[in-house]
Amino acid sequence: MRVLAIETSCDDTAAAVIDATGVRSSIVASQDLVHGPYGGVVPELASRQHVLAILPVIERALATAAITLADVEAVAATHGPGLVGSLLVGLQVAKGIALERGLPFIGINHLEGHLLAIFLEREIEFPYLGLLVSGGHTSLYVVEALGRYRLLGRTRDDAAGEAFDKGAKMLGLGYPGGREIDRRASAGDRAAVHFPRATLKSGGYDFSFSGVKTALRQVLLAGREIPLDDLCASFQEAIVDMLVTRTMTAARTLAIQTIVVSGGVSANSRLRTRMAGAGAADRRAVAFPRLAYCTDNAAMIGYAGRARLLRGERHDLTLNAEATLPLGLVERAAALPGRS
Ligand code: KG4
Ligand code: ZN
Repeated sequence: MRVLAIETSCDDTAAAVIDATGVRSSIVASQDLVHGPYGGVVPELASRQHVLAILPVIERALATAAITLADVEAVAATHGPGLVGSLLVGLQVAKGIALERGLPFIGINHLEGHLLAIFLEREIEFPYLGLLVSGGHTSLYVVEALGRYRLLGRTRDDAAGEAFDKGAKMLGLGYPGGREIDRRASAGDRAAVHFPRATLKSGGYDFSFSGVKTALRQVLLAGREIPLDDLCASFQEAIVDMLVTRTMTAARTLAIQTIVVSGGVSANSRLRTRMAGAGAADRRAVAFPRLAYCTDNAAMIGYAGRARLLRGERHDLTLNAEATLPLGLVERAAALPGRS
């Protein structure tokens, strides 16, 4: 089954063609230049930009796969979670194509796409722990099977990428700033400043990054002369530490052998090193999809869409965009240990 997939949940316009041989094309048009001056995604601008980019991006995806619309056998599109104005652009175009061509259609949860992106490159055994870290999400899931996701914890405030970006803004670095912090941190002293690591009273696997952000602001207000590289390294270490600690605790508690990290923040070199080190020390496998499949893309939506379509699942064309579309049920730590 040859699937055209479309993803417009945030600020990237993406289309891909997936078939039995794998990814035939995956095109992403970034809006970073549009949002950069504002230091964050401006929803209204994102929707307008999607409207301009969506058809050319689809045309490029088809051309790169050396097919035309007539060769497409089914359509998949992200229908949540995300910015409604952004989601609607891709979703409506996908439904329009399905209607016009009389093709099966399926809506996909963006988070499911991220959690399954690793399958674009390799097989992995269930269950695995999926750490999803991006500009919009920081969540830890047990991926039990295709379509069965158990949410262990998520951020109570900022996403990890958002914390990186806001920190970068305070430090006068550009947007999105995660990569710049990563680059500067490699030359900095991780122990120069001790930033707080959030431990939540209720236990469990939720994350919180507002404390480290506030701490950075206080350090800057205090006016101490700390080299920028050292600030970046210390700030990054606190965020990475929280991500690695929670994830490894969950892996041990639930006796899960494989960990998959995805989302834009998984590009972070320190996170990669620390996760790989913790995995090796614990004899657990740690996998990262290639970067192009970690950041927002339509190939991952195509993978999830195709897998569901092959199981006979379909949505009708009344499917709507949902800003807060949930994935998986939250289980609190107290309920977990006996369940591995
Ligand atoms: O998944 P993604 O491309 O987009 C969405 O969140 O939708 O993730 C982007 C996020 C941004 O916050 C960006 O600063 C962060 O990923 N990021 C990084 C790095 N590269 C991208 N954060 C830390 N270190 C990096 N090397
Ligand atoms: Zn994403």
